[in-house]
Amino acid sequence: MATTLRAIAGMPMIDSLAAALRQISPSAFLRLSPSSCTNARILASPTTTSSYAHQTHAATKKSRTVYSLAPRQFEAAAAECDREVVSVLGIETSCDDTCAAVVTADGRILGEAQVSQANMLVHYGGVVPMLAQELHAQSIDQVVEEALANARMLQTDLSAIAVTIGPGISPCLRVGVTKARSIARVNRLPLIGVHHMEAHALVARLMEHKLHFPFIVLLISGGHNLLLVAQNVGQYVQLGTTVDDAIGEAFDKTARLLGLDLRKGGGPALEEIALQGNPTSFPFAVPMRNQKHCNFSYAGLKNQVRLAIESQKINENAPMSLASAEDRQMRADIAASFQRVAILHLEDRCRRAIDWARKIDPTVSCLVVSGGVASNNVVRTKLGAVTKEHGLQLICPPPRLCTDNGVMVAWAGIEHLRLGIFDPPPHLDEPADAWELVFITVR
Ligand code: KG4
Ligand code: ZN
Repeated sequence: MATTLRAIAGMPMIDSLAAALRQISPSAFLRLSPSSCTNARILASPTTTSSYAHQTHAATKKSRTVYSLAPRQFEAAAAECDREVVSVLGIETSCDDTCAAVVTADGRILGEAQVSQANMLVHYGGVVPMLAQELHAQSIDQVVEEALANARMLQTDLSAIAVTIGPGISPCLRVGVTKARSIARVNRLPLIGVHHMEAHALVARLMEHKLHFPFIVLLISGGHNLLLVAQNVGQYVQLGTTVDDAIGEAFDKTARLLGLDLRKGGGPALEEIALQGNPTSFPFAVPMRNQKHCNFSYAGLKNQVRLAIESQKINENAPMSLASAEDRQMRADIAASFQRVAILHLEDRCRRAIDWARKIDPTVSCLVVSGGVASNNVVRTKLGAVTKEHGLQLICPPPRLCTDNGVMVAWAGIEHLRLGIFDPPPHLDEPADAWELVFITVR
């Protein structure tokens, strides 16, 4: 029977907590599907935190697979992980960017490469899964080779391969996982399956070597809004998630309705035009102001913006470049007003999350903000003010490491390898796509 990716310590954070709470046997397999990793609620209020945290911790320990009987090569890799010679190739293909990077255990980024699918966004207004898969398949070999060439390394110089296994678009994930398995198989390297959102969170520890657990994390991307207390690698208490859309999706949708140039992405386009707008010109309501929890909602705001755009008779098919000065100003005002309210919602939720997190662990001293939307300058400034108010430090990775990238996956791989959490290389006689045939069994 062919091997597949095994459930790993990163997974209890999201939906797979339930699975992780069960004993996951060494032969258990992890489903590669976007829905398996989204929007589950682990914790609704801080009152139940300690027991939940305890369970999560216990589950994490159970689900970790440490190969004490594994071939010496693996143990050596894990043991050596604090030495600079250990280098991990990270592969990321969960959505619309094909990314790879080589990072060392002492935090040096040796080489990176990335191919973006921006044209698909421009032509189709969003990600088309099968087309995205095809584009990943076209780019993956070149991206991996380029990352290695930039690092001046060969595959044989690597210590391990890390790859995003979810959440994401299944056919896209498959491209990355197939490539990772093939490199690991041929070079007999340990393989680390990485949770995309955990990678977004952990990359902060690459940038900020003094960032110790526990810390609060706000993850804001195209598909997720998550507030967590990170207690350790693979050990998270979820304070809040979105009940409908994620903030990045709201940015993208608003940018599309406003007819912005999407070549650089909806979020960056909206941030740019908002600079010219009046943020108080449209009095959109801040979501969930009366609800005293840490969850998010962006569907209502998206709808308010759509109605405003319709009432102003803005034609999304008429590009900004051809719009009149008055029309351009109107679009900028809507963009600025949307952005202000979208971020006010983040500020509200972070204030409460800080209170909750301090009840869970009074030693938390940092708020990490990561994921694509964390590259927004207004988000960074406003959340910087919130953390200052509360005597916390704000840590945002540099913008290029907030959006999807290979570095975060490689670094998450190093964090796991250090703890001895990895899978052995696939069998030498495993066909390239055999792992797909036995896609799932989590007992
Ligand atoms: O983490 P990410 O690169 O991919 C996902 O995991 O989804 O996040 C992508 C999201 C997109 O919705 C994109 O529009 C948004 O992040 N984004 C931004 C900015 N840069 C990227 N949103 C607002 N302002 C930005 N500067
Ligand atoms: Zn992401």
